Amino acid sequence: MCGIVGFVGEQGDALPFIYAGLKRLEYRGYDSAGIALASDGQIALKKTRGKLEALGQLIGGMPAGVPCGIGHTRWATHGRPTDENAHPHTDCTGTIATVHNGIIENFQELRQWLVERGHHFSSDTDTEVIPHLLEEYGGQEDVVQAVQKAERRLKGAYAFLAISAREPNRIVAVRRSSPLVIGLGEDANYVASDFSAFLAQTRRAMVLENGEMAVVTPDAVHVMDMAGAVQRRQEFTIDWDIRQAERGGYPHFMLKEIMEQPDVWGDCLLGRTSGGAVVVEELGITREQLTAIRRIQVVAAGTAYHAGLVGKALIERLARVPVDVAVASEFRYQQPVFEPGTLVMAISQSGETADTLACINLARQEGMKTYAIVNTVGSTLARESDAVAFTHAGPEIAVASTKAYTTQILVLTLLALALAEAQGRARPDLVQGLLNLPLLGQDILSRLDGIQTMAERLSGQSDVFYIGRGLDYALAMEGQLKIKEIAYIHAEAYAAGELKHGTLALIEDGTPVVAIVTERDVAEKSISNILEVKARGAEVWAVVDEKLQKELPVDHVIPIPVLEPLLSPVLAALPLQMLAYWTAVHRGQDVDQPRNLAKSVTVE
Ligand code: G6P
Repeated sequence: MCGIVGFVGEQGDALPFIYAGLKRLEYRGYDSAGIALASDGQIALKKTRGKLEALGQLIGGMPAGVPCGIGHTRWATHGRPTDENAHPHTDCTGTIATVHNGIIENFQELRQWLVERGHHFSSDTDTEVIPHLLEEYGGQEDVVQAVQKAERRLKGAYAFLAISAREPNRIVAVRRSSPLVIGLGEDANYVASDFSAFLAQTRRAMVLENGEMAVVTPDAVHVMDMAGAVQRRQEFTIDWDIRQAERGGYPHFMLKEIMEQPDVWGDCLLGRTSGGAVVVEELGITREQLTAIRRIQVVAAGTAYHAGLVGKALIERLARVPVDVAVASEFRYQQPVFEPGTLVMAISQSGETADTLACINLARQEGMKTYAIVNTVGSTLARESDAVAFTHAGPEIAVASTKAYTTQILVLTLLALALAEAQGRARPDLVQGLLNLPLLGQDILSRLDGIQTMAERLSGQSDVFYIGRGLDYALAMEGQLKIKEIAYIHAEAYAAGELKHGTLALIEDGTPVVAIVTERDVAEKSISNILEVKARGAEVWAVVDEKLQKELPVDHVIPIPVLEPLLSPVLAALPLQMLAYWTAVHRGQDVDQPRNLAKSVTVE
């Protein structure tokens, strides 16, 4: 998703910071990039389709020592990824420049109005209406007033920055849904779509709230609502380690993020258990609130949705509270029925996924209690939900989610245990099992060499099936998503018992099938299903409870220590993530930034 960076300093050099800041935002996914500097009464502008390296070739010719500028990485929504459609965009005079994230829904109507008034457009984007509106409203004389007037005309969910060559000592930042954060330096200030853009410069930050704008100068940040009324804003310190956001010696962020999971699980569990019980308050909710829950509605997208499916099984089995899990983009338009006593729970790594946020807003409008399981502190979802539990996975940079997924499951497990207790159910002794997971995870990760062979074989295939029952089926869904996302191999997850109702027809000699067998109660049935696909010639690779490995008639086995079946998804996720990772590497794909995908999907 688009990345925004702005810099305004006493006499600093905006260009190197903006370029480096855009680099830090690369993980969000993008297809073009650009930078504008306010210099000598003019805007110096360079932009191009492609990666930042292409922009790097162009910016050599830009003026040095300019203390004010904005930059952007674009993930195309309106208009193809071309040089013309790349941001920043300028007005007709070339003295106002803007960068934008999100969507201006009424841009067609605005564009027509502006064209009738003599404005000339040079891109297909919705964004370009902003600089022309600013020009129309006197932005050359007073960009702040022009932004206030222009903003009243815009409809949609967006964030944008504007600079004027005539006022080269300030950036105007506007937030309407899409996130914007501000970094406070010594003799410079920064604006960006997330903190990682300026972490190398400063840890002092503030968040721009929805419906606010900020006038950022080298020594001050004035936050106001769109009518100009001053808003008080506390600054805070970001405690993320900058090295956490770097690759730490691994060839890809994804591999680093897979490997650090045992440590991250420890962070996620820290302080949340005591004497064999869950510390409810550390989940952002009270025991009384848990007791009052009659039903849970989970809303999420992508990998977070798959974590929700695991959560459903855990909560229903442990707490006997019914759970529905919905894909957020569907739920928001289904006129959902909210029964009293339902907790609406959003799960999200970024906390910025537009559809997930829309579901939470809908639930709140209907008077429902909302709860979020989120990784990103300070994210919109974290701020707009009634209660929040953070996953503490640290920054996840690779587009394909790994450590966010397993920590989401850990928080869901803690919640299921706390809910069981609050609802008067017998509480199984799972806490020690949870605390053992980091060690078991380390052990599994150190024994996964064999996965390379499987990955090499899989890399030459065009289709693969993932099968399992119960929790293993929920995990199979995540396994197949990983392969699709990064290795671009067609994959399908099937409830193993459902195979013979259609999918079995697709199994022929050599068809790869990944079988997951950690659910003891249905293990025999899963083994029967494996025999069915074997009999049709499938090559079966199995992630199994190590106690069953000898019984399985499969081609490769990855044994998992299953001390407690309810906790096995977290451990069994590791080989599935690794299989996808190495298959993508064998196929030579861009593992961290797969084609067509974005890390944070802030448009619907
Ligand atoms: C995008 C990412 C996925 C992620 C999904 C939901 O599609 O590529 O990895 O699972 O969004 O994101 P969220 O931040 O809400 O978990």
